[in-house]
Amino acid sequence: MKIIAVTALLALLIIQCAPSDPETSVGKEGWLSGTSDQKFETITTHIGGFARAMTEVSYRYNQLYWAGEDENWDYAAYQLEEMEEALQDGFQRRPLRAASGEHFMEVVMPEMENAISSRDKSNFDNAFELFTAQCNNCHALEEVSFIQVNKPINRNSNIGLIQ
Ligand code: HEC
Repeated sequence: MKIIAVTALLALLIIQCAPSDPETSVGKEGWLSGTSDQKFETITTHIGGFARAMTEVSYRYNQLYWAGEDENWDYAAYQLEEMEEALQDGFQRRPLRAASGEHFMEVVMPEMENAISSRDKSNFDNAFELFTAQCNNCHALEEVSFIQVNKPINRNSNIGLIQ
């Protein structure tokens, strides 16, 4: 009886002394290491902040423009939707940016959505001018006006119409 009690006590001690969040290494050749918090911390830096979201927004902005010029409305709608997600993820990661983006999300995006739904190129072209101005408006609010968005001149991808 005594032996069982001592063994149980020892087992309890061992369980309590073991770190609840041990350092481990995962990923190819164990590149991601540390406690869970440390690993999450590393991952967040890899995901990046707002600039990383903006590089995606910028790609989609360009694709959106050419989709409209091609009158490929489904692709334009797709790009706008994906852009919205990228912006939302960016705001989740950097909540201090959200206030400057409120007008863009609440007013500018829906206006572009309406222009795309109208399937009318001149509506789209007009909306795109305002859209671009509003990208720059937020850059001014966020004190990065040196990042000037201009209407695309060249296609930046080989995605276009079915030939
Ligand atoms: C919330 C306001 C906001 C809106 C809306 C916004 N931007 Fe930005 N943008 C920023 C901020 C802030 C930065 C700088 C990010 C940083 O310093 O981390 C930036 C950076 C950028 C960059 C540079 C990214 C890099 O690191 O190379 C590009 C390109 C860009 N934005 C394009 C756009 C386009 C195109 C639109 C419109 C479709 C747009 N932005 C809308 C706030 C905004």
